[in-house]
Amino acid sequence: MTLMGWAAARRDLGGVIFIDLRDREGVCQVVARPEVSEEAHDAADHVRGEYVLAVVGEVAARSADTVNPKIPTGGVEVNAREIRVLSEARTPPFPIEDDINTAEEIRLKYRYLDLRRPRYHRNIKLRHQVTMEVRRHYDEHGFYEIETPMLTKSTPEGARDFLVPSRIHHGSFYALPQSPQLFKQILMVAGMDRYFQVVRCFRDEDNRADRQPEFTQVDVEMSFPREETVFDITEELYVKLARLAGVEVAPPFPRLTYKDAMERYGSDKPDLRFGMPITDVSQEMKTLGLDTFPGLVDAGARCRAIVLPASSGVSGTRLRKVNEELWLGRIVPDSRASKRNLFVLKAGDDAVTNLGKKGASETVARRLLERVGAAKDDTILVGTDAEEPVSMAMGILRLEMGKELKLVDEKAFRFLWVTEFPLFGYDAKEKRYVSLHHPFTAPRDEDRHLLDTDPGKVRAKAYDIVLNGYEVGGGSLRIHESELQAKIFRILSMSDEEARDRFGFFLEALQYGTPPHGGIALGVDRIVMILAGEPSIRDVIAFPKTASFTDLMTGSPSPVRDDQLRDLGVVVIRST
Ligand code: AMO
Repeated sequence: MTLMGWAAARRDLGGVIFIDLRDREGVCQVVARPEVSEEAHDAADHVRGEYVLAVVGEVAARSADTVNPKIPTGGVEVNAREIRVLSEARTPPFPIEDDINTAEEIRLKYRYLDLRRPRYHRNIKLRHQVTMEVRRHYDEHGFYEIETPMLTKSTPEGARDFLVPSRIHHGSFYALPQSPQLFKQILMVAGMDRYFQVVRCFRDEDNRADRQPEFTQVDVEMSFPREETVFDITEELYVKLARLAGVEVAPPFPRLTYKDAMERYGSDKPDLRFGMPITDVSQEMKTLGLDTFPGLVDAGARCRAIVLPASSGVSGTRLRKVNEELWLGRIVPDSRASKRNLFVLKAGDDAVTNLGKKGASETVARRLLERVGAAKDDTILVGTDAEEPVSMAMGILRLEMGKELKLVDEKAFRFLWVTEFPLFGYDAKEKRYVSLHHPFTAPRDEDRHLLDTDPGKVRAKAYDIVLNGYEVGGGSLRIHESELQAKIFRILSMSDEEARDRFGFFLEALQYGTPPHGGIALGVDRIVMILAGEPSIRDVIAFPKTASFTDLMTGSPSPVRDDQLRDLGVVVIRST
């Protein structure tokens, strides 16, 4: 037989040379014994790390004392009759093995070497299995995969566009799609009924561990759906994808409205791998009889509590640090901090009596403990601030404490749907409403009358799917009436002229018999990251960009020649 691969390691044991030959499936031990072949032994002597070899030889069982039970090929070895060096290699800048702590910058510059490591072979294979499963799934459900343009017009998803200058039309630009949103809706107008696409999207936005300027979505749209239709088909897919990581999840996934998610978990993407829900205790804190709270609550502040279980053994010193470093130092770092408060309370009779001694009402104290569901010696943290900031701050505190106290079940997959998002947010700086999702999302029928009077209160037919605290997909039922769409643009402070200019083709398309439609887009990078148990989406993308959007291997972005700029009619203003 002939084996080909990379020399991962070479050991010369005085006469016998062992080479670990690696390919994408793993490693296999090659043995070069002079008594089997002088030439092969000589060749093995010259082999260095990462040389590419062709080895001709026979597979044999290893002797009992040399069996390596840790690897699948550990019971056998290949006795080499011939070793051919197909390619020599320079010494790599870091070892090609999983446990290294080489800086990411160096690994990304030599990504082809980084990708040789087993960890990335596993991740890239998993990613392939995910997209194959996706394609099978939507095909089975009657969806067509349809490609949409990459050189197109801006589609608003809340980020900046990457623009591409047109050589033929000087001064005009294509935008790379932030998503295929308008095209997939137009495909429904075109009667395609069910569409999906594994598609690259481009967003010029802040890079974070779970974001990239270009990333991949499974983009889905269907005609005549109810929200349930989208949920069912998506859940069925996620069951299949979780199985690829060896995890069984059972639909239907839980659902929470946006309002409940914010109140109970202080987040629109709650991590449900642990409990510790947040409880509103504003009334109890107001009537407890302690000084500061009635004034704050009367001025509109809310008090929200989480319970740290006694079993977590969190100490008083640690709690003081949590207050100083986490609550005041990081979560609430601005000048209004003095108005914010983190009140620490122990549960149990002694604590209630102590509170009584300080002039508090023991009855209310007991009611508070009952309301938050605290058992003896549990610790209750009560944060106080205006509604929105206290929600978010308690959400962060819950996450931090959950991780610190090791309450998170790292192996679990906890999916949930978050529904009934507000249709609009208010941009105080620009003094106007902005779409929370995108402007094509339909308002809920029961809230539609509020569009004229109180747009901020209108809820949307929008939903996100969340896994372990990550938003792994989002979508909505869409507006399918041209008039309503035009009205939404007006609420977003877009003049009719601007709406015509940017979306005239779309408003017109809606007038030619548009079926009610809706869909979702799933974040492939994020889902593969979670399935692979990786900390960053960069670990599941073959050629990712750094935090500052650069590709260290090719060195892009890079300046271009003056004649290219002239061709495109582009003048570069260099920042000083
Ligand atoms: P949305 O903007 O919510 O929806 O995107 C859908 C999913 O794509 C993933 N995602 C990202 N992943 C990596 N890097 C990024 N920069 C990034 N941005 C988004 C997330 C997210 O849930 N057109 C709508 C979908 C629809 O309405 O059907 C859209 O794009 O996992």
